[in-house]
Amino acid sequence: MPVLTIASRKGGTGKSTASVAIASMLDAEGVDVGLLDTDPNQGAYRWATQKYGGTTLKAYAESDTEKLADLLPTLAARHAVLIVDTAGFGNQAATVAMAGADGVLVPVTPGEGDVVEAGRTVGFVEGLAKMARRPIPVRVLPNRLRRSTTLTKHVLAEMDANGLPRLKASLSEAVSYGEMSFSAALPRTGTAAGEVEALVAELRELRWLPEKGATSSLRKEVKA
Ligand SMILES: Nc1ncnc2c1ncn2[C@@H]1O[C@H](COP(=O)(O)OP(=O)(O)OP(=O)(O)O)[C@@H](O)[C@H]1O
Ligand SMILES: [Mg+2]
Repeated sequence: MPVLTIASRKGGTGKSTASVAIASMLDAEGVDVGLLDTDPNQGAYRWATQKYGGTTLKAYAESDTEKLADLLPTLAARHAVLIVDTAGFGNQAATVAMAGADGVLVPVTPGEGDVVEAGRTVGFVEGLAKMARRPIPVRVLPNRLRRSTTLTKHVLAEMDANGLPRLKASLSEAVSYGEMSFSAALPRTGTAAGEVEALVAELRELRWLPEKGATSSLRKEVKA
């Protein structure tokens, strides 16, 4: 526990990038983190198992809806936190992953259509919460921002005007995020590192993420 699902109806908004960035930062902090890739393309799973330099991050891949409904709570109980990456275009596995989440993070890239799609994703999570009769907190993460541009100011204002629950944290357009998918680890210095740190800190303030060094309650029980 808890489960953080990263989702958006639109493809290519940075779901996998945010998933691996958050998961690897938590891993580096000594948190017992699981990364569950529910996208049949398994990009995040491949990154975690083939590219990532750390040895403690546990990665899983499951896109079958029925299996996922059983696996998600099992993995949530096994780890101090479970980060769940999803495929775009509103597939069933993503719906299960959102319905089982303690928080849903929706990355959104600059563009009029992107803000509209993010609004639909937020609305869908709110609908799932209503159906499940429990709160499912949802936040929007602005991604690929070019700092100090009119476009960025406009997009952020548009999100606010549309009532999107936007995080203070955001990610810039930075080559290091692109490079991350080909390399062994998260950038440790520079803009990207600071941004991911700020993102993790804000998610922690929301109590979506456990404290540094957190191990799962199951493991604590075993140790006791
Ligand atoms: N902040 C960023 N700066 C530069 N490149 C980025 C940034 N965020 C994402 N990208 C790049 O954009 C592409 C899409 O990102 P990513 O794969 O994370 O999106 P996604 O939402 O997981 O896509 P899909 O819907 O296909 O799963 C990738 O090539 C990634 O490296
Ligand atoms: Mg992806």
